[in-house]
Amino acid sequence: MKSQKIKLVYFSPTGTTQKVLEGIAKGINVEVSNVIDITKPALRDSEMPSFGDGLVLIGAPVYAGRLPSVAAECFRKMKANKTPAALLVLYGNREYEDALLELKDIAVMSGFKPVACGAFIGEHSFSSDEFPLAQSRPDIADMEKAEAFGKEIAAKLNEIESVDSMSDVHVSGNKPYREEMKLSAIDFIEVTDECDNCGICAEVCPNGAINEDDAHSTDTEKCIYCCACIKFCPVGARVLKDGKIKDIAKHLSQSCKQRKEPETFLG
Ligand SMILES: Cc1cc2nc3c(=O)[nH]c(=O)nc-3n(C[C@H](O)[C@H](O)[C@H](O)COP(=O)(O)O)c2cc1C
Repeated sequence: MKSQKIKLVYFSPTGTTQKVLEGIAKGINVEVSNVIDITKPALRDSEMPSFGDGLVLIGAPVYAGRLPSVAAECFRKMKANKTPAALLVLYGNREYEDALLELKDIAVMSGFKPVACGAFIGEHSFSSDEFPLAQSRPDIADMEKAEAFGKEIAAKLNEIESVDSMSDVHVSGNKPYREEMKLSAIDFIEVTDECDNCGICAEVCPNGAINEDDAHSTDTEKCIYCCACIKFCPVGARVLKDGKIKDIAKHLSQSCKQRKEPETFLG
């Protein structure tokens, strides 16, 4: 059952999930007919399309061993009908715990038939030059693995008659899942004098937390700590303030130094 076209659905504030998903799509080597980037708040508010026969690649980062709740809520709105899906989580070299299992469970509930699942490593959202963690990942080796995984998915789809003949994909993770991360209003980003109010931080914020006319004004109630505003600031004007998140960044940078490698699971 060769897939003629594929669709991508992802939540990716700092771009690593998007990059790996695109690498997998490159390996599958068929046309990408639709990209649904639910990082954009407006898209999460709109209806999700129904999915037909073609393969769908779905990806999200890991937040505290789970899916980010904004992404999970949106994924739950998807409707599929035995649509083959490849599922991906990106994590920052600590652990991915129950996130991939959660994504698989949501996909199955939505009517998808998982063909393949993967957990890849991306630069940790809290990483900085001072406290690096999985810096510059996915790197060349990771992207080669993403493409090779795509080739394996294509070969798997070629060898089966229909999704009904496919066996279950076993992934790591436990139930009940870890407790979801509780968001509390933390004021953890310092905006330095370098800021020229260009508005890019407001544009890339996945939850509309930054005032587009005043980059100094962040609604901490809306912030999901994704750090996209820090990573995409063209002049490096946004940095972690001393406090809780910076302490976590420091701790993780010391305790998660050992390089982890992507894990893939096929049906
Ligand atoms: C709030 C928050 C929680 C996170 N929790 C984890 C975690 O539990 N394990 C881990 O290894 N990385 C964790 N990360 C790092 C991200 O999973 C990682 O940086 C990922 O590559 C980001 O994906 P994106 O570039 O698509 O946004 C966390 C990041 C944030 C912002």
